[in-house]
Amino acid sequence: MPVTSVEQSAVQFRFRCIACGDLSDAAGKDFRCKHCGDLLEIIYPQWKQSRPAAAELKSIWLDRKLTSKAVDLSGVWRFRELLPPLADERDAVTLREGNTPLYALPRCARITGVPNLYAKHQGMNPTGSFKDTGMTVAATFARLAGFRWVACASTGNTSASMAAYAARGGMRSLVLVPEGKISWSKLSQALDYGAVTCQLRTDFDGCLRLLQELVLRAPVYQLNSINPFRLEGQKTLAIELLEQLDWNPPDHIIAPGGNLGNSSAIGKSLLEMYELGLISRLPKLSVIQAEGANALVRTLREAHGKSLVSVQAETRATAIRIGNPASWKKAVYVIESTGGVCEQVSEVELAQAKAEIGAEGIGCEPASAVTLAGLKKLLAQGFVKAEETVVLVLTGHVLKDPDFTIDFHNGELFKKEEIDAKAEAALRALRRPPIVLDATLDAVIRTLEQAEKS
Ligand code: F0G
Repeated sequence: MPVTSVEQSAVQFRFRCIACGDLSDAAGKDFRCKHCGDLLEIIYPQWKQSRPAAAELKSIWLDRKLTSKAVDLSGVWRFRELLPPLADERDAVTLREGNTPLYALPRCARITGVPNLYAKHQGMNPTGSFKDTGMTVAATFARLAGFRWVACASTGNTSASMAAYAARGGMRSLVLVPEGKISWSKLSQALDYGAVTCQLRTDFDGCLRLLQELVLRAPVYQLNSINPFRLEGQKTLAIELLEQLDWNPPDHIIAPGGNLGNSSAIGKSLLEMYELGLISRLPKLSVIQAEGANALVRTLREAHGKSLVSVQAETRATAIRIGNPASWKKAVYVIESTGGVCEQVSEVELAQAKAEIGAEGIGCEPASAVTLAGLKKLLAQGFVKAEETVVLVLTGHVLKDPDFTIDFHNGELFKKEEIDAKAEAALRALRRPPIVLDATLDAVIRTLEQAEKS
């Protein structure tokens, strides 16, 4: 049974296989090409005949900021001309996602020596991660296709987001997460939003494998980023970013890489905006991974992007603890098309970067912090120049993983043998452990005086 056909959504987009190019008007339940089994992407053939005019689009999108319609209040559906169209806009399942801030990072700018350094903070979405921008679109189309159940495999954020949007859309949700390898905050969100949550004795890659078999056997709709509707929604991160920059493209956009859906979506968006004349220059999109979950780094270095080099993933940044990324081909394509690179960072480097972003008063979850750590490496390599404009994509909120933050500040994140003296000194300077005191004025004043000296 096709789960989404073009008729259902008032025409004007098609599914294209990223490998063999097969075009179809309907996608199967596994969202894979019926000929070669590779992933599908959504394309808009009508743009060739009647291109939306760039200036007109920019002005329509701005005008919508002044209205109070639910679809216009969504920072995703506000850009709906570049999304699969809805026959009736009231069908959108929305929590007013998107609309996320672009922050200057003056402290990190001083640390890196890049004055024009910004963070696009997707952790400021309704469930605290970038997943919401994709989930609003995919959950909407799940409901339009008449599904009662939606399902995903997750390292935590997808499940939190899916559970919320399923609940809003009146659907039930099934979550598959690796037991003991997702943060309590994310797990608690899925429970709170009413998902049926299964902690499987495997890793994320094992959960995703199982999900793909499940969708072929059970009447559930797959909401992982293999689902191309997710990526269409996640494209709006880049559209909103460019609008915030008055359509002046930054030189670099740096995003974390896990299953590689998000970087693929950002890249697709940049290429489409360039094609439509919304921007006159392409930013370079670079992807950063944790050293212990570096499948894309190895795929590019060892196989020149031609075949996937899978890894047994291990990192404290559990959101990106993924060894067999589903969207690796899409990511290779957009990195190469925009002239970006892929780099990896160590556990210590990402922990330091997370504390530095926290000290800006912004904060993010560990997986997001790989972007700042990666930027330092790209600067050292000369790929990023100090005078260039750089945007880091922060993907998750600081409250997503409080255990990591507390262990860091208590000095309990790393074992002695994991960290050399120089790195230990850098981390020590950033630590602010909680101080237990007797409840006396003297004790508090002494602490204040000591802190002033440090
Ligand atoms: N940052 C955060 C906070 C994430 O949750 C994820 C992925 C990524 C980065 C990587 O994005 O997979 O599109 O390359 N989290 C998924 C999940 C896998 O299940 O929540 P990606």
